[in-house]
Amino acid sequence: MNKVLVTGGAGYIGSHAYKALRAAGFTPVTFDNLVTGWEEAVKFGPFERGDLLDRARLDEVFNTHQPVAVMHFAALSQVGESMQKPGLYWKNNVEGSLNLIEAACDAGCMNFVFSSTCATYGDQDNVVLNEDSIQQPINAYGASKRAIEDILRDFAAAEGLHHVIFRYFNVAGADPEAEVGEFHQPETHLIPLMLDAIEGKRDALTIFGTDYDTHDGTCIRDYVHVCDLVDAHVLGLKWLMDGKGDRVFNLGTGTGFSVRDVIDQSRAVTDRPVPYKEGPRRPGDCTKLVSGSTRAVKELGWSPTRSTLDQMISDAWRWHQTGHYNT
Ligand code: UFG
Repeated sequence: MNKVLVTGGAGYIGSHAYKALRAAGFTPVTFDNLVTGWEEAVKFGPFERGDLLDRARLDEVFNTHQPVAVMHFAALSQVGESMQKPGLYWKNNVEGSLNLIEAACDAGCMNFVFSSTCATYGDQDNVVLNEDSIQQPINAYGASKRAIEDILRDFAAAEGLHHVIFRYFNVAGADPEAEVGEFHQPETHLIPLMLDAIEGKRDALTIFGTDYDTHDGTCIRDYVHVCDLVDAHVLGLKWLMDGKGDRVFNLGTGTGFSVRDVIDQSRAVTDRPVPYKEGPRRPGDCTKLVSGSTRAVKELGWSPTRSTLDQMISDAWRWHQTGHYNT
């Protein structure tokens, strides 16, 4: 039985990965401290509650399950919060990941799939963002993820840790069967906030900045469906288990949408008005983040079939209306 330790398996992306791993014949074991995740989201295999800062607990879990690989999703991931509390991000993300990497190497678990971010690239005007682009994050979240990438490279050189790094663009959508979905508390992400506003569950959405140098003044992002994203992770895991080399892959579609584009599409999908107002820029936000790489498609055979804006918002809307966790 090929067990895979999924850190953050009770969170948004981890829970979808959990389901995809199960479907691909692996046995996912989730490790999560439930600070931002939900136990109810752990539906497809064993659950080990624990914190990445607790090295003894990590050793215990590696001992018990003897996983063949780690998929590391657990992290604090709010750009705005990272600007206000950088220490939290360095401690939780970097120190926690270092603990995990050391524990994996000590346990002889040498296949490691890491969720990094396009936020490591920072704000680079008119630059095609591919895996060889310079990494110059402008927020503590991106800086913490870049540091973990560096740790992985050092452990690869010193210990032979095989790793795949995925740099995500903006993850959106939900499991089409609505078994799992996106649910953060507090919620900070554009699409779930917008759907809540449409349903009247919260106040009008605030557009963070309308004076960016883009076609309509609002920030541009490359949105990728969470199911497509986790499919890439399963392909990355197979890549490692086939003995292929350490590799970095961007996960984005190459198409950018502005905040106003997302508002327009949400109106079309839900057939309801989107209550919104215009506000100031949010510190740490980049103007435009769009992937310029097709490496994952060419080398992994990744085929992101659900990542149209229409499909992502439709699946998120279905989850919003039918699925939820009892909190
Ligand atoms: N936005 C608003 N109003 C809101 C929330 C967001 O206008 O209430 C805007 C943001 O300014 C940004 C876009 O919508 O332009 C997307 O914002 P999100 O908060 O949904 O996502 P981020 O781009 O800030 O961050 C996300 C992930 C990070 C990842 C990053 C890469 O949370 O983990 O994408 O861009 F690193």
